[in-house]
Amino acid sequence: MGRVETVQWWRDAVVYQIYPRSFQDTNRDGIGDLEGIRRRLPYLVDLGVDAVWLSPFYPSPMADFGYDVADYCDVDPMFGTLDDFDRLLADIHAAGMKLIVDWVPNHTSDRHPWFVAARSSKEDEKRDWYVWADARPDGSPPNNWQSVFGGSAWQWDAPTGQFYLHSFLPEQPDVNWRNPEVEAAMFDVLRFWLDRGVDGFRMDVVSFIMKDPELRDDPEPPSDLPPRSRAHPDVHGVFRRIRRLLDSYDPPRVAIGEIHEPDWDRWASYYGQDNDELHLPFNFTLLHAPWNARVIRRLVDACDSAVPEGGRPNYVLGNHDEVRLAGRIGPEQTRIAAMLLLTLRGVPTLYYGDEIGLEQLDIAPERQQDPWGRRVPGMGRDGCRTPMRWDDSPNRGFCDDDVEPWLPLGTGPDVASMDADPGSLLALYRRLLELRRKEPLLRSGRYRSVEAPPACFAFERFDGDRVLGVVLNFGSDPVPLPDTRRVRVSTLLDRSGSQIRSLRPHEGVVFDVPVGGS
Ligand code: GLC
Ligand code: CA
Repeated sequence: MGRVETVQWWRDAVVYQIYPRSFQDTNRDGIGDLEGIRRRLPYLVDLGVDAVWLSPFYPSPMADFGYDVADYCDVDPMFGTLDDFDRLLADIHAAGMKLIVDWVPNHTSDRHPWFVAARSSKEDEKRDWYVWADARPDGSPPNNWQSVFGGSAWQWDAPTGQFYLHSFLPEQPDVNWRNPEVEAAMFDVLRFWLDRGVDGFRMDVVSFIMKDPELRDDPEPPSDLPPRSRAHPDVHGVFRRIRRLLDSYDPPRVAIGEIHEPDWDRWASYYGQDNDELHLPFNFTLLHAPWNARVIRRLVDACDSAVPEGGRPNYVLGNHDEVRLAGRIGPEQTRIAAMLLLTLRGVPTLYYGDEIGLEQLDIAPERQQDPWGRRVPGMGRDGCRTPMRWDDSPNRGFCDDDVEPWLPLGTGPDVASMDADPGSLLALYRRLLELRRKEPLLRSGRYRSVEAPPACFAFERFDGDRVLGVVLNFGSDPVPLPDTRRVRVSTLLDRSGSQIRSLRPHEGVVFDVPVGGS
């Protein structure tokens, strides 16, 4: 591989997110593990994705299933050992794929030795590694900041008589990134995994790390002033330093940031003025949008044009925090979602199981696992974290049949049944991923949306006068097309090569546009 190609692998990559608890159990505890992921790599090779992103597998009391890290440089025994990790990484590389790991810089577990030291006394040398503040005169928290998981973001620590900040659970105290020792320690964590050979990081709620230094109140809703509890502009300096660290490796490693920012300009600012910050600030807009052609067109147009020259757009349709794709948009539309995700310009992230249409499962209250759901009824995320279904055995190949899986498995289709069906959703994902690999326009062509019948979203990927068209029917009625199209791929996986004059309900097609216009 030439150097440029090596350096730029992420620009064309399809990222596949694995929630390690839910992919494959191998040691009979009903919870997925690293060895399970390793054994399933042939499936990912066959699917045709380029990179695997693993949600956290570090030692953790699991108050937030690993997003509360007690040791950044090891593997939780539940998931395996560092040796298992090294084996997994080596096999991923041997298979020609990349590995992205999760980095949780905003907070540690309250059991992390740093926090244990910090809370031991006001004089401890690690005290300032976290965000502490006195009560107001009436004893109330220092300001009005709210935890994302509900309630005040401040927890009273009686023994030392101060509050500490937790933007998420009280078991997840926020670290103080304004202390240079914290930055140095967190960068050592990055180096630890970089030196082991990981290809990049997905950075958890990474814009939260810088807050108002004076801890002033957040504007009260409905104000649209930016919050003070997160995303302080000083975060850009940290991002540039992270980027310099990643760029110092050969080949450079990729920075993907979990950024929740509804304002397009502010969102795009995280690429950096000279593309010197995050390679990919996640774009979650399609996750939260009503599923209709007009809205999706508006959001894709906005994203594609907000990205600075030289940067890459990216699209996310599912992850471990959101209602499952099939549950959100309905099973009939999952093929439209697949074609949309894999034909837009930039980097798609595919959430494990969406390729077999894994549904949102209703988890009975007594089986709820997610601490957020236990704290705030209705907020539980278990329904989108249920185990992968591999076959039709009682535990669907996820774990041995005499073992209880950590969450129920549901009764829908599985990999084996879809394997046997050449027209399945899984077959469509494979076909589209193959087309992306073979068709340079889908990887590096530019993007423009074009007029389309109502209910449809149509766009083109082009380079000079070479054009590939995509038209997606978001509706349940057939739609006549203004002219004949020669089908490259239909979401229904039939009539490739034929000339069509209309789309069927919920059908999308990729088609060749003859030189001279569509
Ligand atoms: C991110 C993660 C989510 C976690 C939270 C706190 O949003 O995706 O799962 O609960 O950060 O770390
Ligand atoms: Ca296990």
